[in-house]
Formats: sequence, structure tokens, C-alpha cells
Amino acid sequence: MCSDPLFRSLEHTANTVAIEFDGVSLQVPATVSLAAALIAAGIRKTRTTPVSRAPRTAFCMMGVCFDCLVEIDGVSRQACQVVVHPGLEVHSHHAGNIEEDRND
Ligand code: FES
Repeated sequence: MCSDPLFRSLEHTANTVAIEFDGVSLQVPATVSLAAALIAAGIRKTRTTPVSRAPRTAFCMMGVCFDCLVEIDGVSRQACQVVVHPGLEVHSHHAGNIEEDRND
């Protein structure tokens, strides 16, 4: 299966900001959504599904699919609805396992 992103930047931006994703520093375009920035940086997984733990990342880019969920300051956020800013610290999103929760 091809993992190349379907999204392409229409223009190259010289302005970048430094953010952190799962402890890794990234230089990303300064004026885009966090989802677009992570795709541009080559990040292909931002969350896992709660049942099968399948990897997911941004798909719709407009706040509908929730596949872009990330964690910012301990809060689950949709990366496509957040604009990047310098120093942003982002973690991939790992929901609780539904099967494990049922057994508690
Ligand atoms: S990419 Fe679909 S909700 Fe963010």
C-alpha cells in the first residue's frame, strides 16, 4: 500500500516555525494547519484506533473525520483545526482500548 500523502502544497513557503511531535523537533510551514504541517514534515501516523490500534492521520482536512486527533497540553484536538505556532508541543493520540475497558 502506498503511503505517499495525497496532499500537495500549492506554494512553497520560506517562513517556518519549530514545533515538536512526540519529542522530535520539526521545522514546518508557519501559516498552515497543524495537520498540513505534520503531513509536510512526513508524519504519517498521528493516532491509533481504539479497537484494532490501526494507524490513522489527517484525511478530510476540515474537521469531519477525526482521524487527525492529536494531544496538545493533555487535551485531544483535531490537528486540522489548529494553526501551528512556534514551540507547539504535540503528541500522537492513543485512545483507551475498548476491549480492555469492557473488562474493567
Ligand atoms: S483531518 Fe478530518 S477531522 Fe481533521
